[in-house]
Amino acid sequence: MKKIITYGTFDLLHYGHINLLKRAKALGDYLIVALSTDEFNWNEKHKKCYFSFEQRKQLLESIRYVDLVIPETNWQQKITDVQDFKVDAFAIGDDWKGKFDYLQEYCEVIYLPRTPEISTTQIKTDLKY
Ligand code: CTP
Repeated sequence: MKKIITYGTFDLLHYGHINLLKRAKALGDYLIVALSTDEFNWNEKHKKCYFSFEQRKQLLESIRYVDLVIPETNWQQKITDVQDFKVDAFAIGDDWKGKFDYLQEYCEVIYLPRTPEISTTQIKTDLKY
């Protein structure tokens, strides 16, 4: 069984997220989403989420492409996540291109093209949230 892992905030879930999850799952058989906690978002990514971690987790768990949701609490956990969950490939949108090449020592690293013209930030701007 080929295991894939991806990381992100997935706030105000939109079709760009679904496209990413669908393509990530298609790379293998089992998709793990490491979901940024509210604290990690606020302290490290300087993002304030509209939906809480538990709400974002519940949404992700209801998506057919997602097999497991785990918390992302820090930048350093990726290597141990890959090892602990016996992950074969790490996949993420190409806005992160090159940033996680160091993981190639532990698993395959794949940057997927972002879906154009949609982002959580764009939705917030459009709705003046
Ligand atoms: N993603 C994507 N296409 C988009 C938006 C996001 O493929 N149009 C991917 C990102 O590259 C990442 C995952 O979805 O792999 C989660 O991204 P996240 O940062 O949570 O979503 P954004 O909509 O980019 O949020 P923000 O505007 O807050 O950065």
